[in-house]
Amino acid sequence: MALEKTDRVWHNGKLIRWEDATVHVMSHVIHYGSSIFEGVRCYNPPSGPALFRADDHIERLIDSAKIYRMEVGFSREELTCAMVDLVSTNGVWPCYLRPVVFRGYGDAGVSPENCPVEVYICNYPWGKYLTQDDSGVDACVSSWTRIAPNTLPALAKSGANYMNSQLIRMEATTNGYAEGIALDVHGYVSEGSGENVFIVRHGVLQTAPLGNSVLPGITRDSVLKLARDLGIPVVEAGVPRELLYIADEAFFTGTAAEITPIRSIDRIPVGDGTVGPLTSLLQREFFGIVRGEKPDRFHWLTQVPVRSKQPVGV
Ligand SMILES: Cc1ncc(COP(=O)(O)O)c(C=O)c1O
Repeated sequence: MALEKTDRVWHNGKLIRWEDATVHVMSHVIHYGSSIFEGVRCYNPPSGPALFRADDHIERLIDSAKIYRMEVGFSREELTCAMVDLVSTNGVWPCYLRPVVFRGYGDAGVSPENCPVEVYICNYPWGKYLTQDDSGVDACVSSWTRIAPNTLPALAKSGANYMNSQLIRMEATTNGYAEGIALDVHGYVSEGSGENVFIVRHGVLQTAPLGNSVLPGITRDSVLKLARDLGIPVVEAGVPRELLYIADEAFFTGTAAEITPIRSIDRIPVGDGTVGPLTSLLQREFFGIVRGEKPDRFHWLTQVPVRSKQPVGV
């Protein structure tokens, strides 16, 4: 989806013009992938724009920075407020927010210590990801393995991890699938290029535990919380590849993908190939909350104060 610019970008505590949010080609991040980032959605319930789990995204950003010994220089509260201010200033919602922290211009060597840490947040309109089709997507098991433990840390949302994601995604789309599912180094299901994966078998919801090289997805956590609240049995345990082929239901979760049903994997229909009852139930609950149709019983939404209640984005 083409990027649609907004007016302002938050940079190290100041709101600058979109056009001025540029970096030098010799910045450390360009050569060594030294960035960590987040993707956050701002929804449009009737009460006005609202960020989804803003504080949890910023917590993960700060965790990613800690793993990579990056001094962010702003607190969790400051960065959450920065996201609220940015949406309010730009007046564009619903939207996607992209906080990014990276090593900037200073030294050409691998060692990052002499490169300043830069913090930016952008927001821009963004619609559906993976598909517009409610019936779901066709996925494949990728020939690329997800990053192995103790190579690149999977719990950090780092730019470098997305080189692996790009290989998974490009292979899938080249072969006519919407998305690829990567296995971990031991052959267990890990995750999609930008989503966690859930399956349902005999009424039990199952997803890979964090030890299978997955990002600790905020949407994954939301689905786990919703499922437990609804009394759906939940297991976080290793998913053998073949369980994908005999699952009754399967879906991706992610900020971008939200809850996207998977209708086939490697051309084998998931269940009867239609959206299953637990997937539908979890979608209804999730979208009910973010659209303001159901009470925000987990306090997931952060309201953005704006002058007009009219959405300006997509
Ligand atoms: C590799 C990967 N796994 C999982 C997810 C889902 O995480 P979240 O639900 O926090 O967006 C994402 C998206 O950020 C991702 O890029």
